[in-house]
Amino acid sequence: MPAHADPVPFLTAEQTLTTFKLPEGFRIEVVAEEPMVQHPIAMQFDADGRIWVVEMRAYMPDIDANNEKNPIGRISILEDTDGDGHMNKKTIFMDGLVLPRAIGLVRDGALVAIPPNVFFCCDTNGDGQADERTPLVDDYGIRGNPEHQPNGLMSSLDNWIYNANYDKRFRFDNGKWIVDQVNDVGQYGITQDNYGRRYTNTNSDQLRVNLIPEHYADRNPHYRAGGINVQTALDQYCWPSHNTAINRPLMKGMLDFRGRLSHFTGCCSPVIYRGGIFPDGFEGNAFICEPVANFIRRDVLSENDATVSAQNPYERDEFLTSTYERFRPVNLYNGPDGALYIVDIHHGLIQHKTYETPEVIADYRARELDKYLGTGRIYRVLPTSATLYPKPKMSHASSAELVGFLSHPSGWWRDTAQRLLVERNDFKSAHALTKLAANGENPLGRLHALWTLEGMHRLDAAILTTALADKDSHIRAAAIRMCEPMLFSKDASPRVLPQVLNLAGDSEPHVRLQFVLTVGQLGTPQTDGLIANILREGADKPLLLDAAVSGMRGREVIFLESILGQIGWTQSRGHAATFTALSKCVLAEANSRRVARLLELIAAQPADQVWRQTAMLDAFPAPTATTQPARRGIMLPSEPPALAILKKASPAVRGKLANVTAILHWPRQPGYIPPPPVKPLTPEEQTRFAAGKVLYTSICIQCHKADGMGQAGLAPPLVDSEWVLGSESRMARIVINGLHGPVTVDGTSFNLDMPGLSALSDDQIAAAMTYVRREWDNGASPVKPSKVKEVRARIGVRTQSWSERELLKINED
Ligand code: HEC
Repeated sequence: MPAHADPVPFLTAEQTLTTFKLPEGFRIEVVAEEPMVQHPIAMQFDADGRIWVVEMRAYMPDIDANNEKNPIGRISILEDTDGDGHMNKKTIFMDGLVLPRAIGLVRDGALVAIPPNVFFCCDTNGDGQADERTPLVDDYGIRGNPEHQPNGLMSSLDNWIYNANYDKRFRFDNGKWIVDQVNDVGQYGITQDNYGRRYTNTNSDQLRVNLIPEHYADRNPHYRAGGINVQTALDQYCWPSHNTAINRPLMKGMLDFRGRLSHFTGCCSPVIYRGGIFPDGFEGNAFICEPVANFIRRDVLSENDATVSAQNPYERDEFLTSTYERFRPVNLYNGPDGALYIVDIHHGLIQHKTYETPEVIADYRARELDKYLGTGRIYRVLPTSATLYPKPKMSHASSAELVGFLSHPSGWWRDTAQRLLVERNDFKSAHALTKLAANGENPLGRLHALWTLEGMHRLDAAILTTALADKDSHIRAAAIRMCEPMLFSKDASPRVLPQVLNLAGDSEPHVRLQFVLTVGQLGTPQTDGLIANILREGADKPLLLDAAVSGMRGREVIFLESILGQIGWTQSRGHAATFTALSKCVLAEANSRRVARLLELIAAQPADQVWRQTAMLDAFPAPTATTQPARRGIMLPSEPPALAILKKASPAVRGKLANVTAILHWPRQPGYIPPPPVKPLTPEEQTRFAAGKVLYTSICIQCHKADGMGQAGLAPPLVDSEWVLGSESRMARIVINGLHGPVTVDGTSFNLDMPGLSALSDDQIAAAMTYVRREWDNGASPVKPSKVKEVRARIGVRTQSWSERELLKINED
């Protein structure tokens, strides 16, 4: 705790303005404040520029989160009737809600997230209040605390509605809601850029990007493709203007020498600025909230080879800082006027109770941050000398006017016009849209016209053929994706196929990437030939390799065989990585016939191509250094003849065969002792397993995810982890006190930070451990509460988390 933590005096919204520091040329204004808005967390502008705001009024009413479930949450509609930029009229759309957390405006109403539901809510009698709500899903926030639940409901360029921290996307199509499975990424906040790439983050990692549309990444169950949730900035240093109450101040490196937060710890809600009125160099930048230290980061994004990287343009400084600790920016938006809107929950207790440390509690009390409930602000940041766009009146605009807005300099106008046109689905606008898609001057206008037609199901081969030849590469890439329904239909020779295949040699990396994503799934000898050519030139780009392999489910060994038969595959340019990746898929699929074929292919390589053999053999993992997990083997019907050939191969090959026979087994294999069958759980252990599952689904799942596979930047996998399958004592220590990186899990290194969960009882920890050790085919022993008790006694008093080095010194069961 910093030495002199004095009470933080309350400032009105107007008084707060003097605490901000902004770059020259910008100013900040109050848009709304208490009592009109109270603890706002998310908002949306409707077609007429009114603000729909989610007020999470019951968040952390005190340090113990008492009465947090009081039904006092609201959705309010704020309006500026005199055009001065300050809201002066309020209508309550919905009241009496328990912790509402997200809003997305659609179809003359709103999707509203009130865990565990998302409802479509609308006002049918024109009194401004919702009188109908239809549930869409019932698993939106069934776990954990408010910090770690789904959010977003963001309408995206591709006409789907996306979320952070949730594994589904939504779309209203043909008169009904469609719910589709996608990768679960991000924590709090989601945004998109002009090309529909989505960005999220986690509390200590400022900005991550999905370089490919999410749904491609997990389509091959044998392969975890990259390209989503990709880190954009290695540097997580931050530069607040004062010191603040911080949750884990004792953790090494958390504070700088002045006692200020040194690394992001509560960052959230990135937004890509697409407002059209900021000075040169700001359009397309990312802005990110850090409520714990009261500032807003600006990141300049640059694109290279279909990847995006982020850079803070200020030297040891931030875009916006405040010295007022109650300023808690938690969400950012592009306004219709072109300004950047800041949602300030204005709540001193920003850390939720679940992870509050004794240090932060003491500091919160000393600073009186538990005071002043019922407050909240919305601000806007704008250039001192910019002309703002006028207040929109889109709800009654003609379709022709809306088509015009698709080329507006502001992304908000383009997005909103697209949404309204798709919702209206007015066939009379199709002609104007087709014209705009082909001849619009602004490439973004052409792109929106195409996606609008996609949303209206009015794309045809003629429109797509033109788009595939567009001079703007982002349009060519999008057009390839839009051809998929035609390419993947039963129609054997879709009209657009030749035009799509023409783009195999496109000069732009992101066009080739989309080509591989789409065409790689077709799987004809002709298309696989083109994919092979692209990989031969560019497999050193992991994004491209992953895109190809993700489309090859079940065909990996066939493709491998075809490229082994081609010339031009040398040791360079990621060729070995290609062979390894494809071979890994074959092992992951564990189909004995295809595994045997893989071995045959390895054995059949000419003697001067040892590198090919070793590349494929590299797919067989070496036993890990720490504790050997009980790897699941692959059972073959008999000894594969290829093995006898490989035993006579070069030493480099022979040296890898032990890894092969550690995984592949067959009846009467010498030296192979089948692992003892996993001992079934007793009824008592089963009860513990069931209790552990409940705990897992409320706590561990937030980071380690439902499939136990964790998530890059958040947490490592628990499936096949030596820390889970190995010593009970080590695992119990991790759960009790937490763990800080670097740590190696199943061959991959992680450098993250798991908070300790010592507040859980021995019974609870034993239950969670039992569950994790037996779920997902994990076959380790169940854990007794007495074991956890014994470990706790050995640990004694300890508040610090463990390091890998310390844990490895512990040689207890
Ligand atoms: C707030 C996020 C979070 C929660 C909640 C969480 N963990 Fe973790 N866990 C992590 C992170 C991050 C690491 C890796 C830390 C590092 O890099 O040193 C980790 C590591 C582990 C490890 C060792 C590495 C591995 O993957 O096997 C185990 C075991 C583990 N956690 C179990 C649990 C269990 C059981 C629970 C629930 C009782 C839980 N964790 C809850 C974030 C979390």
